[in-house]
Amino acid sequence: MKTVSSLSDLRAARLSLDGTVGLVPTMGYLHEGHLSLVRQAKAENQHAVVSIFVNPTQFGANEDLSKYPRDLERDLSLLEPLGVDLVWTPTAETMYPPGCQTWVEVEALTKGLEGAMRPGHFRGVTTVVAKLFNATQPHKAYFGQKDAQQAAVIRRMAADLNFPLEVVVCPTRREADGLAMSSRNKYLSEAERKAATVLFRALSAAKELYEAGERDAETLRRKMKEALSREPLARMQYVSCADYDSLEELDVIKGKTLLSMAVFLGKTRLIDNFVLE
Ligand code: PAJ
Repeated sequence: MKTVSSLSDLRAARLSLDGTVGLVPTMGYLHEGHLSLVRQAKAENQHAVVSIFVNPTQFGANEDLSKYPRDLERDLSLLEPLGVDLVWTPTAETMYPPGCQTWVEVEALTKGLEGAMRPGHFRGVTTVVAKLFNATQPHKAYFGQKDAQQAAVIRRMAADLNFPLEVVVCPTRREADGLAMSSRNKYLSEAERKAATVLFRALSAAKELYEAGERDAETLRRKMKEALSREPLARMQYVSCADYDSLEELDVIKGKTLLSMAVFLGKTRLIDNFVLE
């Protein structure tokens, strides 16, 4: 496994990889969710490339970039046994050269949900991911369904900008009690960690209604709100029942649908979602 930081080293290392390349972009502090993406990239391509970069431009002014957890040594020790060929750990100066003023912005898809709560977030995500695609030239790039809107926005960007690659969206990995794996779970106190299963419970309750034949979107949103309100440690930010592709809120469920939510447990903000097929 080769680890490089500069753009010139990355380019040289990339040129030496013959055959298909799968890229897994991450911000590090890896957990089983990230590793499942890496395994899939390795299984579907001759080479797996992982990028680790805590991207400053996707953090809001009130979101603490400096407190984002980092542990490069541990990350590398988790990637090595998976047969990863190349790890790229660029610096902020490499990704954002002095004087840079070019941004990638996806319009309608970034207006609602996470985009509404985190202004500028997706502009930072799409800009950095476009740079990662350009530098690593992958055949396939792997993202988690955990960040459903991010996956939708990146799929749109790749199509709109004619990136010659396939965006692959992988299932959400969960703890045994249903909590979606996330680097942020480590901020939860013991009591908050227990209460955090309420996201999974609320999504499951709405899905159950759907499976029993309910197609009124507001009824599903109400069900999720009720479940969240019964957990005293949880504070809902939003719940949504939206069209899977456009991410527009629905009145009546017809095709593929995304149930999603953002919930605070203390100071920690968690997101989760289910897809209704
Ligand atoms: P990060 O939060 O490190 O996540 C990297 C990838 O892992 C994302 O595609 C995310 O959806 C996926 N992931 C996270 N938790 C997961 C889980 N429980 N199951 C499956 N996949 C999971 O997302 C980012 O970084 C950044 O925005 C990035 C795309 C790297 C751009 O900076």
